[in-house]
Amino acid sequence: MFGDIALRQSDGMTLLETPAVRLRGLVLEYGDREIELHPQWLRERSTEPGQIEATNRQRLYTPIDVAADLAVVDARVDGDAIVVAFTDGHRARIALAPILRDLGWVRDPEAPPEPEPWTTPLVDFPYVDWAGIGWSDDEADLDAVIAFLDAFYRHGYVVFRNTPVDEGTVARIANRIGYISGQNFGWVFDVRAEPSPTDLAYTAIELLAHTDEPYRKEPPGIQLLHCLANEAPGGDSTLVDGLAAALALQAEAPDLFLAAVETEVEFRYDMGSDTVVNTGHLLEYGRHGRYRGIRFNTKLDTPLPRPGTDLGAWYAARRWLARWLNDPTHQVTFRLEPGDVMFMDNHRALHGRTSFDPTRGRRHLQGCYIEHNGPDTMYRLAVRRRAEQ
Ligand SMILES: [Fe+2]
Repeated sequence: MFGDIALRQSDGMTLLETPAVRLRGLVLEYGDREIELHPQWLRERSTEPGQIEATNRQRLYTPIDVAADLAVVDARVDGDAIVVAFTDGHRARIALAPILRDLGWVRDPEAPPEPEPWTTPLVDFPYVDWAGIGWSDDEADLDAVIAFLDAFYRHGYVVFRNTPVDEGTVARIANRIGYISGQNFGWVFDVRAEPSPTDLAYTAIELLAHTDEPYRKEPPGIQLLHCLANEAPGGDSTLVDGLAAALALQAEAPDLFLAAVETEVEFRYDMGSDTVVNTGHLLEYGRHGRYRGIRFNTKLDTPLPRPGTDLGAWYAARRWLARWLNDPTHQVTFRLEPGDVMFMDNHRALHGRTSFDPTRGRRHLQGCYIEHNGPDTMYRLAVRRRAEQ
């Protein structure tokens, strides 16, 4: 593929601080695409001796060490790299594949798969046998690890089967995939009917589709719920895709979608002795329009009335989302068995449960959270290992 790459020296680009100065960069051509590469951008990709530390590959110099008027004096394509000479005397062989990746011209081969919104239960429920993941990389089946993560990124959830039915197992699983992250309920929390519940989850009532802890500055990334006992009548689990809901709202009622995205909401957890308060939005998107998450927990949200804010639209949006997310045709309903672990993206997959009767059987789950970095790293390293095999 690198045979299609061509280089030519650019006429120059403007140095912002001194517009009169023109820098000579490089124009990279690939098929019908071309882009002008800034000399400093190229210079900072150098991995020649003295430029980066060998083990961690981090840069050994500061921005101040690079001349502001740096330019390219010579460049040529050489196999899978370009060889570039700069005005500061530095000469570097720079791999082309990472350049094309960072330009967005080829997909990052180690990037986790893109989400696939779902509006009805998947044909095949994404169960994952824990035996294939194991307690260490040495124990793991690499294909099983990649298949688990592939399903998780595409659908936003999986359920592990055949894990030990022991208290504390959920923390071991969390630490196998990432690092357990604590929050106001501790490292691991018990989900069962309590006489003085610190959250409605710790009762026997029905829980509608929700995300956990929207009141945190950054809500927990991934929730794990490990089933120790599920003998009480009721207590079935539900999941629904918040990303699919956002897309449906955007298509069906753009005004309401805008209200859900733009109206600032206060989320408040407050039980006197403990309180966490933050603001966010029902639907959150990054600056480039990329879906970031849904904060949906109608037990503890309050939109903030501000001049110009149409709370009527916001309430209509929340009502629309509550209907869509709790429509049984959009949800998957299943029953956790002892040893099962729900593993769900708390920024995307909303969870709930039907009510249960705690006088007629024991129901006990243990839960905890990790952040997305855990599975992100696991996926990248697994794909890298497979490519090296
Ligand atoms: Fe929850």
